[in-house]
Amino acid sequence: MAGSFHGLAGLLLFLTLLAAPAFGQSLAGRWAATGSVLANGEMPKFVLELKQDGDKLSGTLQSLGFINDVTGKVTGAHFELWGVGWNDPKPFVIGDLVDGELRATQWGDRIVAKKATAADEIPRPAFIEPPTLHKVKSNGLATTPPMGWNSWNLFAEKIDDQTVRTMADAMVSSGMRDAGYIYVNIDDTWEGVRDAKGYLQSNHKFPDMKALADYVHSKGLKLGIYSSPGPRTCGSYPASYGHEAQDAKMWASWGIDYLKYDWCSAGAIYKNDALQPVYQKMGDALQASGRPIVYSLCEYGMGGVEKWGADVSGNLWRTTGDIRDAWDSMIDNVEKQVPTAPYAGPGHWNDPDMLEIGNGHMTDDEYRTHMSLWALVAAPLLAGNDVRSMSPVTASILLNREVIAIDQDPLGRQASPVKLGSMQRWEKPLADGSVAVGLVNMSSSPARGVLAAHDLSLIGQITRAQDLWAHKDVEFKNGEYSATIPSHGTLLLRVWSSKGGS
Ligand code: GLA
Repeated sequence: MAGSFHGLAGLLLFLTLLAAPAFGQSLAGRWAATGSVLANGEMPKFVLELKQDGDKLSGTLQSLGFINDVTGKVTGAHFELWGVGWNDPKPFVIGDLVDGELRATQWGDRIVAKKATAADEIPRPAFIEPPTLHKVKSNGLATTPPMGWNSWNLFAEKIDDQTVRTMADAMVSSGMRDAGYIYVNIDDTWEGVRDAKGYLQSNHKFPDMKALADYVHSKGLKLGIYSSPGPRTCGSYPASYGHEAQDAKMWASWGIDYLKYDWCSAGAIYKNDALQPVYQKMGDALQASGRPIVYSLCEYGMGGVEKWGADVSGNLWRTTGDIRDAWDSMIDNVEKQVPTAPYAGPGHWNDPDMLEIGNGHMTDDEYRTHMSLWALVAAPLLAGNDVRSMSPVTASILLNREVIAIDQDPLGRQASPVKLGSMQRWEKPLADGSVAVGLVNMSSSPARGVLAAHDLSLIGQITRAQDLWAHKDVEFKNGEYSATIPSHGTLLLRVWSSKGGS
């Protein structure tokens, strides 16, 4: 009897140990790590505070300016963590508990976390009350959707003064500038540290911002910059929290023409109901800076931004998460525009994020669809490719003047789709009374697209129809036009009628 009791207890103990992660080692507790050094010389520190319940983990991950609730799982010595409430629970910290250390990757960067000591504190910035709401007057800019280039999609943190200068040269030599792509926008990772007077310096990658702005201006282009209303940008660099007026004045003195203002770490300080007043603060600061600066809100579509973006003098606002150079991501972003359509208009635009055209992971037909849809929904056209070495096909997509004209149409209406099985029809009314209409083949094989004249919101007889990718006029016969559309391709027409257009 005793023998069998001990035998059973031993078996249970053995099974418990087997099921317990790392044979009894727990991940519970506070862990501290430092990440890769930033371009401004700072070493970002992370403090991970974890609780473990069986194979489940929960806790917080604190870093410069951020605090994220995390959840995760343990299998043996292996663990994975992701953000609480993420739609796509994709782990961003993945690693193993080895010799009392967490050896992991965080967003792909290697980190080694040791048990934290009392010295491993990350100071939390003091709370600054958001201002009371008022309406900021329009800055009068961006009467058509802004066009230009932005460094993030291709270069991310590998952007510097020289690359921006050579890109500006290429914007001219490639014809991009003359086609309307005027803004050359530096995204995250330009920031240095604040000096004794609180002025935010640029880091060693950007030795002289004013000289860079002068250079870009000398090419007939405009220069854009990036910051966050939180203490840190999404890349952990110092941002504008508590320095809004000072930063805006400094950018104006450099000659900055465009600001992308990215929520990032503001989310660790404010709830979403503070989005409007917090963005209003920078809207006021930009207007007081004495320089016309396009104001781009980047808040991933949170907080019903389309309803109040114009009231903080926003010229454009993100309506989605970050685009990836992939068909599904691009389509997902543009489909999220649908409920925002009534809020687009001259001076204030919905922004489904920047272009990926030419970055290599979609087909040419998919890139033509990307350009067609961005033009139809009156989206900002910010190229994200290497303009210095773009292929003739990429150039032919970005530089298609007829498609650009649809995007830049002064009426500023945003197209909405009608779903027809695996075909989508998007129609955009244009200032001269004509319409632009796109038929998008969503299927994985070529399909016949049929456009009936009575489906278009045109009055009178069709007088002309132009295929904007084939660069030729086409004919509606018996009230219909049809064509074979490649998989993921778009038939894009501009159609005029006797009662409008020419
Ligand atoms: C966020 C934005 C991106 C880019 C990065 C920079 O993810 O949505 O467009 O600006 O931050 O860190």
